[in-house]
This record gives sequence, C-alpha cells and structure tokens, in this order.
Amino acid sequence: MTIAIPQDVLDDVVATRRDLHAHPELAFEETRTAAIVEARLRALGYDVRTGIAKTGVLGILRSGKPGRTVLLRADMDALPIEEQNDLPFRSTVPGKMHACGHDAHVAMLLGAARVLMERRDELAGTLVLCFQPAEEGKGGGREMVNEGVLDDPNVDAAFGLHISSNYPAGVVAWRRGPFFASSDSIEITIRGRGGHGASPHEGVDPIFTAGQFITSVQQVVSRNISPLEPGVVTIGAIHGGTTHNVIPDTVTLLGTVRAFDAEVRAAMPERIERVLAAACASTGATYDYTYVWRYPITVNDGEQTGLVDELARGLFGVERSVEGERTMGAEDFSFFLERVPGSYFLIGAAGGPETSKPHHNAAFTIDERALETGVQMLVALGLEAPRRGR
Ligand code: NI
Repeated sequence: MTIAIPQDVLDDVVATRRDLHAHPELAFEETRTAAIVEARLRALGYDVRTGIAKTGVLGILRSGKPGRTVLLRADMDALPIEEQNDLPFRSTVPGKMHACGHDAHVAMLLGAARVLMERRDELAGTLVLCFQPAEEGKGGGREMVNEGVLDDPNVDAAFGLHISSNYPAGVVAWRRGPFFASSDSIEITIRGRGGHGASPHEGVDPIFTAGQFITSVQQVVSRNISPLEPGVVTIGAIHGGTTHNVIPDTVTLLGTVRAFDAEVRAAMPERIERVLAAACASTGATYDYTYVWRYPITVNDGEQTGLVDELARGLFGVERSVEGERTMGAEDFSFFLERVPGSYFLIGAAGGPETSKPHHNAAFTIDERALETGVQMLVALGLEAPRRGR
C-alpha cells in the first residue's frame, strides 16, 4: 500500500498544528479547538456530533459498504506550563502550552479526515473520528466512553496514536499487550497530636510517622509484588508543620501508584494501607487514606497491533516499524481499550537535540516531519481496519 498525502494537505496539517500550538487550551476547556474541528469536519461533509464530554467532537463517515466500525482518536488538551521555546508559533496564552504534542494529534486527524473523505469510494464499514478532551489527568477518555462514543454507532475497533520524542521522527512504535501503565493516586492524612518540639514524648509526631511510612512503603514494590512485575509507588507531595520547634497535628501526603498487571494493580490499595497502618500504630497516630482509581493499564490487542505493524512496514519499511518499550506513563485511551479491541501506538518525533526533550517539559517541541507519518498511518488504518477481522 502507498498512501501519498497531497502537499496542500500536509501544508494544512502543519499550519493547523502551529495555530493550535499558539492557542493551547486546558482539559475540558478546548472550546476554540473543538470549534475548529467541528467547522472542518462539517465542511468536509462528515456527520458531526459536538458537546460530548463537554468539548469532545465526533465525525462519522458511513461508507455504505460492509465492514467494521473503526474509531480513530486524537486528544486535544494542553498543559498548565509556561512555554520556554522561542518559536514563531509559541503559546500566546500565559501559563498554558501544548507540551505533549496533542496539537499535532488534532492536526493529523483533521488531515486524515480530509484524505479519507477524498478517498471515500475506497472505504468500507464506518469511520468514527474522535476528538477527545482532557487526556492530561482528567480522564476525558473515560467521560467520552461513558457518554456512549463506542455504542452509537457500535465501534468494533479503536486506534489512537501519540507523538513521541523518545523515537526518531517517522518511526512507528507499537506493542502487543500492556504498553502503558495504570496510574492511580493516593491521598493520605496522618493525624498526630501537636505540641512543643522540645517535648516530643508529650505528643504524637505526624512528621516522624510520615517519615516511617515514606521509607517503608517502598517495601510494597521491593517485597510484596513479584520482582518480574514492574510497579511504582512515588510520594510526590508532603505538607506538614509551620516552624522549627512545633510538632504539628497533621501531615498530608499525595502519591502516584503505577502497575503493568491488573492483579498487581488490584493488590496495591491494601498493601499500601497495611504499611500506613503499621507506621501509625507504632507511634499512636491515626490516618485517613483514599486510593483513587484513575487510568487503567493500556492493553493493546494482538491482532489490531499486528495490523499497525503490517501497515507501518508496508508504508515505511521494517526499519521504521519497531516494537516499543513499555513505559510507566499512563494514557486514558485505556478506557477505550477496556471496552473494544484496538491499538495505541507511537509516532517518533525526535529529529535532533531540540526535538528530543521530554514530554511535559517547557521546551518540548517536535520534528514536524512526524506529522506526515501520522497522517499516513491514520489514513491507512481508516482504509484498511474496517476491512479486517470480520
Ligand atoms: Ni500526551
């Protein structure tokens, strides 16, 4: 298969990505972005639905021929980061930035929307182009699934992609099975009894208790889960006390918990609480403990991932279709993949030191050559995935 993307489409994808980059919007506030998506899809002739999970937009294209219903997804939100890049299209909004590449995702899916409509005679089944709000921590994917984007029309397979500064520009990285970790949160308040710092024996010191817990909780990963299974418990925030010589009443802790296996994930809440309870019992403190289930493990279907590999190899050659490394990052496309088979894959966007900065960094930027690769993959999936698996 060859998928030639016309130059005017590519120019439009670059221009759209730069425009979105200059006008970043945070989770569930993507009104300008959604309006652009809606206008473009309507102009192309898609059946458009708006206001799903606040700002989400769907573009539906029925070929009228037999085939699966396939969903292609792009996330739309930016991050609360002050951009440090000195680009002509740098963020015009103080404190907000497309530092993860979601601007590119929207632009690529809009480019693919145009090519797929131009080639609609070649289509089978039904395409659902899904522009999703709030991937960054707010679970827009869960909201869209809850509002029925997989049910009407009934979606048979779902695909999503992410730009990645970890791979060279133009490389497609896929993985069968778990690819991204689950991400959950813990919220803890340790309650002691405050008093004078010179008389610790008269109170119950929540700071000391928190110290015991923070050190001991690493035993969950090192002693309680299999050494062959990855897991992470990170305490990212600790707040307590006001000055040198006062023992406070309480300390609050916030943390993140990651896993790659559903059983490991399921065991985490109780394992962590056991350590917390033991630390508190040893000093006489009490605690409040909340385990917040956030993003599930992103598990790719073997067959659908095989299609991603097959298309990437066919389009770009074996050297540009690689098995990706698992990452402890998380992705809310997992909510789609919990419900329907599909695959979430990466498009390399690193073209040198400037474009190899980590995602969510204030100097993150992409090699725009990756945009063509992404559009080609989306078009190839749009043409081919509805014909498979039935
Ligand atoms: Ni992202």
